[in-house]
Amino acid sequence: MTLPINTDRLLRELHHLATITDCPPNTDTSLPEPTQAVTRIVFTPRDLEARAWLTSLAEAAGFTVRVDPVGNTFIRWEGSEPSLPAVGTGSHIDAIPHSGMYDGTVGVLGGLEALRALKESGFQPKRSLELLLLTSEEPTRFGIGCLGSRLLGGVLDPHTADAFPDRIAESDPSAPKPDIALTLHDVRTAAGFTGSLADVKLAADHYHAWVELHIEQGPLLERDGIALGIVTAISAPAGYRFLVEGFGGHAGALLMPDRRDALCAAAELILSIERHTLAANAAARAAGHSGVDSVATVGKLEIHPGNVNAVPSRVLVNLDIRDTDVNRRNGTMDAVRADIRELEQRRGVKVTEEFVNADAPAHSSESIVATLEAVCEAEGASYRKMVSRAYHDSTFIAQIAPIAMLFIPCRNGVSHRPDEYSTPEAIELGTRVLALTLARLANE
Ligand code: GLV
Ligand code: MN
Ligand code: MN
Repeated sequence: MTLPINTDRLLRELHHLATITDCPPNTDTSLPEPTQAVTRIVFTPRDLEARAWLTSLAEAAGFTVRVDPVGNTFIRWEGSEPSLPAVGTGSHIDAIPHSGMYDGTVGVLGGLEALRALKESGFQPKRSLELLLLTSEEPTRFGIGCLGSRLLGGVLDPHTADAFPDRIAESDPSAPKPDIALTLHDVRTAAGFTGSLADVKLAADHYHAWVELHIEQGPLLERDGIALGIVTAISAPAGYRFLVEGFGGHAGALLMPDRRDALCAAAELILSIERHTLAANAAARAAGHSGVDSVATVGKLEIHPGNVNAVPSRVLVNLDIRDTDVNRRNGTMDAVRADIRELEQRRGVKVTEEFVNADAPAHSSESIVATLEAVCEAEGASYRKMVSRAYHDSTFIAQIAPIAMLFIPCRNGVSHRPDEYSTPEAIELGTRVLALTLARLANE
């Protein structure tokens, strides 16, 4: 073992962070290990509590802390040549409702442990090392993922961002309903994050290199018994909302021939999305590719009026569509749009498309990938180069810095569920390889 990692401390902290949740404590002792359901939505009291606790850990370890106007938190260990571009790592601590305790948090607390382990070993970095806690990687509250890293990377207009409506009531029915519609600007300033979002963007030479540690969120590493994944590219995510408007009425009295049921139309739209995504994969397979890179999900419908005995008049369909190939993703969308036009005619409904985001894939730096490979080999850790099908903050940090990511396996590939789990051994190895990689990059 070339660098001792204090795994007990790290696991204790991961479990403590999981207790800062809006889900009730897990009391199911029949599970093989505790799995705490986590809901931690950005800028809620739980999120602020978790941020304060993390800041105290960073300060106790002797690092300085800076917070930007959107709440991105920079935990910095000054290098011996502080004017050089720094080396960054980090991830997020927000968690979608009723999810798990490892998504994002392994990159934040593992990153903190990596810095502490290096410091405690007597290492002195030449370049400064920065651990980032990035705001709202999850789209839960403001409808778009990677809010903090988009602003850091300069791929989101600050005025547009500040005007994003607060959608918390849609995700958290227990949240107090404000009388007036709140925006990101209202919510962040109320949470104590003030200043102009235009100041969040980082200079193109801020980072020499960036590496994010994360759970795989898929089954490949565990299935093949491989210890680590080195990410070479991150799939391109896009989001759209379709407002389907029909004609509502009484569930008994409105006769079937007279209906223009918005939910039935939305159901056809969802199946069209699935059909064209499967067709995109089939075409890719026929062309000799893996044929699994196109994915599309409708995970949230807002049905109006939402009564068992009223015909739905309006449905908002939230689509999350991803691909490693932007042209293929666009082709799938065009095919869905053609179906929508036909659906409008046949069912007498109106479908309005709202664009949320359409991002490009990110590609890892060959040199950082080579450093990760060299560290894995020196540590005797098996690894595989792979594509990330989930998006990550690194997607947007890639706009301003050379990036790569390091994956650890998670049980059955499960994520965004309370039973998300990675073993202590995997967390320790990921943290050690991250630390040793950061050390090499910091001395370049
Ligand atoms: C991130 O949470 C994603 O949805 O990929
Ligand atoms: Mn996630
Ligand atoms: Mn994540």
